[in-house]
Amino acid sequence: MSEKKPVVGILMGSDSDYEVMAEAAKVLKQFDIAFEMIVSSAHRTPERTMDYVRGARDNGMKVLIAGAGAAAHLAGVVAAETVLPVIAVPIDATSMRGLDALLAMVQMPAGIPVATMAIGAAGSRNAGIFAARMLATTDIELENKLLQFKQEMAAGVVKKSAAVQDRLVSDGLI
Ligand code: RP5
Repeated sequence: MSEKKPVVGILMGSDSDYEVMAEAAKVLKQFDIAFEMIVSSAHRTPERTMDYVRGARDNGMKVLIAGAGAAAHLAGVVAAETVLPVIAVPIDATSMRGLDALLAMVQMPAGIPVATMAIGAAGSRNAGIFAARMLATTDIELENKLLQFKQEMAAGVVKKSAAVQDRLVSDGLI
């Protein structure tokens, strides 16, 4: 982890959420954004969660990311306790394949917003990128890194398209 002071706090409801939430951490590391990650549950450790969130701003946090599965109230209770922006990542942890967590996170009542991403790894990656975009509004160096990231992604698509043309030829389809 970076030696800079963390500005993004990643909370997850259980250690079983780690593989998914590590995707957000990878993105933050890629953009050299210092973060910390804790396990804290809205249901199993409500006081621990509240203590963390109440101290978050004074501890230098600028964005919080909350990942949870099942009846996923973590992002909502975090957002209820702070005015920091909260990004939610629904996790596939039950027979409902993450739809339960998605609806719990996205259907917040007016007044307490959370920015809900897609279910699972893609949502977690996007949570990291979205946090980076928010931080980039006051950080030109980070903004340039995000612009470069977008350009690299676009170049990757063009490369894949060229590979598909080659494949069409080798498969005898054109
Ligand atoms: C949620 O319940 C957690 O976020 C996790 O996704 C799910 C299952 O937790 P464990 O039973 O694996 O601890 O609170």
